[in-house]
Amino acid sequence: MKSVRSLSRRLFGSLALSTTLGLTTALGLIGASAAQDTIKIGLIVPMTGPSASTGRQQEAAAKLFIQQNGTTVAGKKIELIVKDDTGAPDTTKRLAQELIVNDKASVLLGFGLTPLALAVAPLSTQAKVPQIVTAAATAMITEQSPFIFRTSFTLPQASVPMAEWGLKNGIKKVVTLVSDYGPGLDAEKWFSDTITKGGGTVVENLRVPLRNPDFAPFLQRVKDASPDAVFVFVPSGFGATFMKQFSERGLDKSGIKLIATGDVTDDDLLQEIGDVSLGVVNTHHYSASHNSPENKAFVEAFKKANNGMRPNFMAVGAYDGMALVYKALEKTKGNADGETLVAAMKGMSWTSVRGPVSIDPETRDIIQNIYVRKVEKVNGELYNQEFATIEAVKDPFKAAKK
Ligand code: DHB
Repeated sequence: MKSVRSLSRRLFGSLALSTTLGLTTALGLIGASAAQDTIKIGLIVPMTGPSASTGRQQEAAAKLFIQQNGTTVAGKKIELIVKDDTGAPDTTKRLAQELIVNDKASVLLGFGLTPLALAVAPLSTQAKVPQIVTAAATAMITEQSPFIFRTSFTLPQASVPMAEWGLKNGIKKVVTLVSDYGPGLDAEKWFSDTITKGGGTVVENLRVPLRNPDFAPFLQRVKDASPDAVFVFVPSGFGATFMKQFSERGLDKSGIKLIATGDVTDDDLLQEIGDVSLGVVNTHHYSASHNSPENKAFVEAFKKANNGMRPNFMAVGAYDGMALVYKALEKTKGNADGETLVAAMKGMSWTSVRGPVSIDPETRDIIQNIYVRKVEKVNGELYNQEFATIEAVKDPFKAAKK
């Protein structure tokens, strides 16, 4: 945990974790919010900067959810307040404070990158306001506050099945290439450990800076190592840059197989990435082409409401975050007290557009299917086509501690 925090600091500037006296006082006065007639939900996401696609997708999904499910739950009016943190943790923290203290928000959602989720954890604990992480995916985030829940995924959850698929499909010698911060380090560790335990060899662990990444020198090292496969994680919004450099360096014709978490072949970017992604095998929890009646209806409605934009896994994280809040409020009969909501959310299960999901009552993380997919063309458009399912996967990081 410490190392991820210090990495975050290095990348995003210092996190002011101390709380001002003013805030402490104000947080002590917010108990009244439980009795309010309007329940406010704050959605804090990057709407600008390199992770802007996360904010765009999550805002669209949260709004669609409200449009479909109404603005009243258990007799209470719901108000969604959307804030752009630009991807800067100090801003995320300030916006969370304002939402809690000034707006008296009952729940906070969003958190597009791990350092942004971490910046708010001490506030959610102190104010007893549920913090639903709908995007960020470093495993340890949910351990930072008993008020944190997650409807996205964890990198260990996605990376272990990728390594297991590799072992069954003749991949023995690998190089890993990840963004150098929390989720990348999780992906690297859990993929590498699983491959090694299964008899494979990891010849290099390459870490690329998150901001303004130049993949070229790292791709040259992948080429020089000539592994069976290179395993890649970059966060949502960065996959097109990676794939462009991958093909420019001729890696797509090198015989080195590209395998990844689904963050790289993000539905939001696949059309832009183009045919170089064809055949890339990857593991994740959501594909826009997931074959279920719920998902077909969701994709159609999402596109209709957003000028044809295709939903990605970030959209689904926010859509399910809203579902979790609505379901919890129904259960508490509209009582939005933080501890009451936390108790209601633990163990909640529903049919998501991604498949069946539930909230692990012990870890507050999501339990969900992980799908093995391959990028293919369907009616002229690129999709991650699911071809195998690993059912009801818990976060392996927390399961290993038991
Ligand atoms: C994180 C961000 C992403 O965009 C993603 O795809 C996975 C993880 C994160 O910072 O936790």
